[in-house]
Amino acid sequence: MKISFADSRPAGDYALVLPVAGKDRSTLSSLGASQQTVGAALDRARFEGEASSASEQYIDDNGAVRRLLLVGTGAGTSPGDAAEKLGGTAAGRLQTSGEKTAVIDLSGLNYDTDAGARVALGAALRSWRYDRYRTKLKENQKPTLGEIVIVGGSAGAAKRYEQRWAPVVEGVSLTRELVTEPANIIYPETFVERVRASLKGTGLEVEVLDRAAMQKLGMGALLGVAQGSVREARLLVLKWNGGAKGRQPVAFVGKGVTFDTGGISIKPAAGMEAMKWDMGGAGAVAGALKALALRGAKANNVGICGLVENMPGGNAQRPGDVVTTMSGQTVEVINTDAEGRLVLADAVTYVQRNFKPSTIVDLATLTGAILISLGHEWAGLFSNNDELAGKLQQAGDESGDKLWRMPLAEPFDRLIDSPIADMKNVGPREGGSITAAQFIQRFIENGVKWAHVDMAGKAWSDKAAATYEKGATGFGVRLLDQYVEDVLEG
Ligand code: BES
Ligand code: MN
Ligand code: ZN
Repeated sequence: MKISFADSRPAGDYALVLPVAGKDRSTLSSLGASQQTVGAALDRARFEGEASSASEQYIDDNGAVRRLLLVGTGAGTSPGDAAEKLGGTAAGRLQTSGEKTAVIDLSGLNYDTDAGARVALGAALRSWRYDRYRTKLKENQKPTLGEIVIVGGSAGAAKRYEQRWAPVVEGVSLTRELVTEPANIIYPETFVERVRASLKGTGLEVEVLDRAAMQKLGMGALLGVAQGSVREARLLVLKWNGGAKGRQPVAFVGKGVTFDTGGISIKPAAGMEAMKWDMGGAGAVAGALKALALRGAKANNVGICGLVENMPGGNAQRPGDVVTTMSGQTVEVINTDAEGRLVLADAVTYVQRNFKPSTIVDLATLTGAILISLGHEWAGLFSNNDELAGKLQQAGDESGDKLWRMPLAEPFDRLIDSPIADMKNVGPREGGSITAAQFIQRFIENGVKWAHVDMAGKAWSDKAAATYEKGATGFGVRLLDQYVEDVLEG
């Protein structure tokens, strides 16, 4: 999708997109002679101009028919959010419409530079699709929209988009691609190679640990999960040093289970295909680091992706096995389907031993229980630090990757004590997301600020929204990117 900014509407054929701010119809004044009929048609359609709502009409334009898409921007909603929804709704509605060009005219709105740029952001995010495996798309299912021109915005919007938001689009796109690809294509080794290729030229440093290297470090929990699969585990380390020399980095750690069958504690067949996106946390970490590098963030970050495939097999770990983690703590594996926390345990120990981060944020599609708590709207947030939790929630509100804080406390921690080892990998069914978080917390060393984001309800969506189609959402990239801007670049 080509997105550009211009001072006035171009010549030639295009679909015109006009925002309508709630019940205020003043933006229709640019329609000249058509204003009356368009307004009357909106009344008939009971159009109220709410954010993401749209009405499609056709107007006479000097004897030619022009498609007119009216998109609500709501009244009183935050301009950035409404702006993204405007761009996204326009792109979504017109993508396969037959139109080649869309002109979004902002001249009736008082959008500042950032809001103008975020119209482009929303449009770019909503335009992403992955057609690699569709060989039989019908002509009228193929995308036609190739160009979006944004006119009437403030002068700096183009530059703002290029510098601040186009890198985020790149990061989100990488994450969505990794999440969308099936598990016969993306497994630990190919995840690494796909990311490496995508990061070429960004200035990110890439380091990869294979099984032998992890064995040497004693990462028995991560390797225990991987041992049932013929796909070898990998630990992917991405380093971005855009901040002050010597300043402690903030670490982002992602669960990268490229397929989760459950292992010997095997999952039921129905819906198991969804477990191809059990690497959504790792995908978000890779995408976020890409975005940070492309926009030259003035921060030091390290991204860790713990990559394994969880399979049953002759060599798979068994319920009851005891594994020794890199931290030295031992774990009784009661349920091989609670594998994400085993991967994260060694990944967070690795990052603490090697990078001395001040702060760790881990992202993981960790528990079905978080879906029971929060559904598909909010991801769960767990933290040992109120300030960190507050800043992440703020970044979530600003970016749209919303977080709801959940508790951590000793009575929950006690539930994962084991009679034979230092801990077991599952607690009771009740409070399942919390005991999972408590498990990870046992691997956080003294004085390290830590937050855990359980995004099991967010990596994939069964329904489209303003800025994404059904499927991979790219959740987490914008959260981390915004957190870095708010806290580390200030
Ligand atoms: N990857 C799953 C969690 C998950 C479930 C993500 C549904 C997305 C949708 C995780 O590895 C898992 O299997 N968790 C178990 C833990 C249980 C065995 C304690 C769960 O949530 O059922
Ligand atoms: Mn599992
Ligand atoms: Zn899993």
